[in-house]
This record gives sequence, C-alpha cells and structure tokens, in this order.
Amino acid sequence: MSRLHSRSWVREAVRIIEADANRSADTHLHVFPLPADWNIDLYLKDESVHPTGSLKHRLARSLFLYGLVNGQIGQDTVLVEASSGSTAVSEAYFARMLGLRFITVVPRSTSPEKIALIEFYGGECHYVDRAPDMYPEAERLASECNGHYLDQFTYAERATDWRGNNNIAESVYAQMQSERHPVPTWIVVGAGTGGTSATFGRYVRYKRHTTKIAVVDPENSSFYGAWETGALDYATGMPSRIEGIGRPRVEPSFVPGVIDEMLQVPDAGSLAAIRLLRERTGHWAGGSTGTNLFGAFTLISRMLAEGQAGSVVTLLCDGGERYANTYYNDEWLAQKSIDIEPYREMYQEFLVSGKFAPSL
Ligand SMILES: Cc1ncc(COP(=O)(O)O)c(C=O)c1O
Repeated sequence: MSRLHSRSWVREAVRIIEADANRSADTHLHVFPLPADWNIDLYLKDESVHPTGSLKHRLARSLFLYGLVNGQIGQDTVLVEASSGSTAVSEAYFARMLGLRFITVVPRSTSPEKIALIEFYGGECHYVDRAPDMYPEAERLASECNGHYLDQFTYAERATDWRGNNNIAESVYAQMQSERHPVPTWIVVGAGTGGTSATFGRYVRYKRHTTKIAVVDPENSSFYGAWETGALDYATGMPSRIEGIGRPRVEPSFVPGVIDEMLQVPDAGSLAAIRLLRERTGHWAGGSTGTNLFGAFTLISRMLAEGQAGSVVTLLCDGGERYANTYYNDEWLAQKSIDIEPYREMYQEFLVSGKFAPSL
C-alpha cells in the first residue's frame, strides 16, 4: 500500500480515537471477598465495562492508532481481521467511528450472539469452514481489496505501549496504591494473542516491581507446552473451549520470557469459577475470567501454605451475558460433558480452609 494517506484525515482520525478514550472512565478494580485473617487480598480488574464489553477495547484502540501512525490506514482503507471474538467486536466499533469498512474472517461455527454483536457495530463477517483457515483468508481478503489486515495475533505485543500511557498494568498499580498490599505478589492473566501478559510482564520489569506474572492456559492450548519446553513451534492444532484464550498454535504476540509461571486449567474448573464469582460478588463474567480465578486460587492456597501475606490481581475479561446460552446453560455443559460440580465443591472448601489442590 504505497499511496500516502491524507495527513489531515489521519490527524482527525487520531483525534477521534483519543477523544473516545478521553470520554471513557477507567475500568474498576473489584475486591473478591476472602477471609480477612488470611492477610491475602484478591482483586479483579473489570474490563467488561469498556464501551465494547471486553479487554479487547484497549487492544483495538492500540491497533487502530498503530495502523494510523504507520501510514497503513487512510480514509478509504478496508480493514480486515481474523477474529470471531471480542477483538472483532471492538474493532468494528472503532472502524464505524472512523467511517471505515470492517470485515472479520470468522469460523462458520461462530455463535449467532457474537455475529450479531459484530454486525451491531457495523462489521461484516466473512466465513471459513476451518478455524486455522482464518489467517490466510484474512491476508488474501486484505490484499484482494487493497485493505489493511489489522492482525491482532502478530501486532498485539507491538501496538500496546508497555511503558505506561494508561495501559492496563499502569491502571492496576495506580488503583492498588491505597490497598494494604499495594504491590501485588502475583498478577494472573490468560493468553489469546498473548498481548495482555506481554504488557503486564514488560511493565513490572520496566517499573522494577517484585510482582510475578502467572499465565493460565485452558485445555487443548499450545502456550503451556511451548513455555514449558521452550519450543515456540509447539502446536496442538486443537481449538480451545474457553472463548478468547488458548490457541491451536503459539501466536507471535506470546512473549514467554516475561512469564514467571504457567498453570494449566481444566475447562470445568474455569466454568465452575464463573458461577462462584456470580454467587459471591454478583459479577457476571465470561469463561476466561474463570480460568484466571482458578489460577489465582491455586497461587493463594500456595501463599497460605507458605505463610506469605500479599495481594493477587487478575482480570474480569468480558461480560457473562455473551455466554448465557453456553457456559451458564446446564444443558450446554451436559452436551459438552463438562461436569463443574467437583470444582464447585473444591471452591467452597478453598474459601473456608484455604486448601486448593485440584488434581490436574
Ligand atoms: C475474553 C478474553 N479473555 C482473555 C483474552 C486474552 O487476551 P490476550 O489476547 O491479550 O492474550 C481474550 C483475547 O482475545 C479474550 O477475548
């Protein structure tokens, strides 16, 4: 794409996106109630309150600004992405704001709720039969229509400013300042692109915090195997059942060097945890938040066993309303042979005794 885009259009586009950020309040940091005498506090950064309902609102904003300042997006650029999830919803929002056409390549199996959400923000869905075909099809589509492939999986770690600039990590530390344990012992996140864990991992090292980063991985995902073996070509070829996290291959934005520990989490554990979250706090979240909570409970039970006080921060990545017909539907769980009962009992036991040792 050689033609230079009008600088005045790009200036106005950047102003419009910055204005959207300026109109948005920061996302909350909720407390998850634990027994006070544990002297350990657990927090959830609520990314579901972003205008487009997930942590991907931040990434979409960064990818648009990155494309604009690189001269890749102009007044008639067709934008293309490979995402059936939260990212496509957020990117459709920003594309509409700039008056640009947005096409996302999605597997034909994508839930009608997700399609409706992408189309609600003016996005178009282009279908492929097999999930792995999304990437080459998005590239083909972008070159066919002289468009720009936003490519979250490649650019997430590059487009996000890890030094600060109100990134998610800077926001968390600012909101922890008045807490009894202001510097978290652990920050627990999942990985889809890997961008969020890269941002937290780089930020804590750049700011010289002692905080450690733990990344949770659902069933069938490639990240754990890659991190454990060091083989970045590690691939399971299997899709994840937890929307937004877990990948059939290791994505370019996954930065294993900033991850202190990885934990594999059974899907039943993730889906039991979001039910617990709703019962205990009223917050309604998606599956990846449950995966985060499982990881947080594992680390908190270890801190308790070692007599370590401190705080743990994790993410509420997106709202549960998107999963009313799946994760919160007992028939859907039965169809998928996902039995959450054993984990529900384990969580009740954990919140009384602090003991949490699920056999993985
Ligand atoms: C709901 C949800 N949770 C977690 C993540 C993981 O975030 P990241 O892509 O930054 O690794 C995603 C990513 O798509 C997501 O949609």
